[in-house]
Amino acid sequence: MSQDNAIETEGLTKRFGDLIAVDHVDLAARSATVLGILGPNGAGKTTTVRMLATLSEPTAGTARVGGFDIVRDAARVRNLIGLTGQFAGVDELLTGEENLLFIGRLLGMSRRDSRSRARELLAQFELSDAAEKAVKAYSGGMRRRLDLAASLVGRPSILFLDEPTTGLDPRARGELWGLVRSLVSDGTTVLLTTQYLEEADQLADEIAVIDRGKVIATGTPNQLKAKVGGQSLRIQPDDPDRIDQVRSIVAETAPDLDPVIEGPAITVGVNEETIMPRLAAELQSRGVALAEFHLGLSSLDEVFLTLTGHRAESDEDEQAAEAEEEKQ
Ligand SMILES: Nc1ncnc2c1ncn2[C@@H]1O[C@H](COP(=O)(O)OP(=O)(O)O)[C@@H](O)[C@H]1O
Ligand SMILES: [Mg+2]
Repeated sequence: MSQDNAIETEGLTKRFGDLIAVDHVDLAARSATVLGILGPNGAGKTTTVRMLATLSEPTAGTARVGGFDIVRDAARVRNLIGLTGQFAGVDELLTGEENLLFIGRLLGMSRRDSRSRARELLAQFELSDAAEKAVKAYSGGMRRRLDLAASLVGRPSILFLDEPTTGLDPRARGELWGLVRSLVSDGTTVLLTTQYLEEADQLADEIAVIDRGKVIATGTPNQLKAKVGGQSLRIQPDDPDRIDQVRSIVAETAPDLDPVIEGPAITVGVNEETIMPRLAAELQSRGVALAEFHLGLSSLDEVFLTLTGHRAESDEDEQAAEAEEEKQ
């Protein structure tokens, strides 16, 4: 393994029966950087994190965390890492401070060291005022900050954050991003999973996009955005029968773009804004009346649509598909 990589996987694979939840995944995270794993529900993010955190053994492939093999040297890996899960466990009935103290004691720290570490973290995460309150009275944002603090009690050099901001409001999300940045500038390596392109964009040095267990694209945020277009243009003709005509006009005007027909509209990833007036003028000169002509930030949906030609499926879609298969 390269000396500079804090996390490295080769062909990492996890099967659950017939399902290949993680399928020959190759990843690398350089020390003191953020690797973002971007993917929809069910893509295999949590399963990947659980293997790297030694909570579940791979079916095939290998991975090293801090230079140690996750299977042969699992105990050493555990000494290096912190984990904040999507459903991570702090005790609701204990206060914030009690939770951190408890973790310190579990990690074998003395009572005194546990207390000073707990106070230090509570201050750093702006939870000092809430230190004596039971966690069940915390807001969502406070709760996530405590989760993060809990994963840092043992001063891990490598941190796994599994969807740390899902369900948080924009302010709490921004605060958590700030905390992650300061950890990384202090030398921590972070592997962060997310469903939000914007979050990966804000935090990650490198992003791996995963879909159905497979890495489908990797690169810096800028490389990925250039690939999919940082923004997404939706064009819907008034007359649904003219959709093919609209697509050919888009293809003629901007041969580099890859328009996708979706129901009554065309979606196309764009990375330079001058294309908008050119397209609008061209459509108008051909007499195409428009119901919609809308430029929005690329969402994960658009990234997926561009990279895979299909939308990221929701859990319900999957369950419906499974139910359908069982019937047959
Ligand atoms: N313990 C398990 N047993 C069977 N299937 C599982 C188990 N854990 C996860 N899966 C399945 O593996 C796939 C990936 O799940 P997961 O890693 O949780 O995805 P994500 O975290 O990206 O939402 C999903 O189809 C999920 O249903
Ligand atoms: Mg998950």
